[in-house]
Amino acid sequence: MAWNPKVVVVGIDGSERSIHAAQTAADLARKNESKLYIVTVVRPPEGWWGIVGSPPPADVLTASMSQAQQGILDDTVAQIALDGVEWEVAEEIGEPATALADVCRDKEADLLVVGRRGAGLVERLVMGSVADRVAHYAPCPVLIVP
Ligand SMILES: Nc1ncnc2c1ncn2[C@@H]1O[C@H](COP(=O)(O)OP(=O)(O)O)[C@@H](O)[C@H]1O
Ligand SMILES: [Mg+2]
Repeated sequence: MAWNPKVVVVGIDGSERSIHAAQTAADLARKNESKLYIVTVVRPPEGWWGIVGSPPPADVLTASMSQAQQGILDDTVAQIALDGVEWEVAEEIGEPATALADVCRDKEADLLVVGRRGAGLVERLVMGSVADRVAHYAPCPVLIVP
């Protein structure tokens, strides 16, 4: 029986690599007539209130993070060919690998696509890569694009 992914999720962080992964996901979605979700996750910065001395109001924090995410999503969508693909963008807040796995569960994804590398070096050294973590925890097959 042929494997036919109906729902594809791609994680993007604004990096070249993730744009390449998004293009791969879009091409795959076009061929298979899959629904494509283009998802970016922002992690609330650790101890962010320490910098300004007091916590900024949650709505301000959320608004600025959401704005940054919207920029990443807009840039990516502008740079990839999405013709003939039914697609949607989504913003999440949290730990990227966990949040991507949650989106896959919610959308009943058949495939999660991520780049092997992304925008950050420091975080990878501390946390291990998002690609490694989703490979272990995603509820669906994972395509890691080098
Ligand atoms: N915040 C994020 N939101 C959505 N996807 C992400 C996020 N961070 C990373 N990814 C996905 O995981 C891939 C690998 O990134 P990552 O493991 O974070 O590498 P690096 O350590 O180089 O940043 C990216 O190309 C992207 O597809
Ligand atoms: Mg990263």
